[in-house]
Amino acid sequence: MEKIASCLNELLSDLNVFFRKLQNYHWNITGENFFEIHEKLEEYYDCVSKEIDEVAEQILTLGCQPLGTLKDYLENTKISEASNKKVTSKEIVPILIKDFEILLNKFTEIKECAEKEKVYITNTLMDEYISSYSKKLWMIKQLDM
Ligand SMILES: [Fe+2]
Repeated sequence: MEKIASCLNELLSDLNVFFRKLQNYHWNITGENFFEIHEKLEEYYDCVSKEIDEVAEQILTLGCQPLGTLKDYLENTKISEASNKKVTSKEIVPILIKDFEILLNKFTEIKECAEKEKVYITNTLMDEYISSYSKKLWMIKQLDM
């Protein structure tokens, strides 16, 4: 259980940093496809916001403690922050593709660990995330020309 909770805390950190990055991009996006990408970024971070709460509450359900400070999140994530500057869709799409892949690897790692330890609730949650992020990844890849 400890190992799963610690992996879930790494995921919680990834999601928190990703949330900040998506909203930062939402505020700083300019140029081609502005309306489309600006709106899509909001849709992404609304989803991530919901997932942050689900993952934290899952850690509590397992009898463990979710990380709760930005310092902890930055120390436990593989997602890098974005600078506070104007960006274009051409610049951010490849970065988002990489971040979705980082998250998908994390979901898979947690799922494998949950299967081994027979923690079915975590397994089910990871299945949901794997299917939703695989679809997001496929869709965003269509923009990367
Ligand atoms: Fe907005």
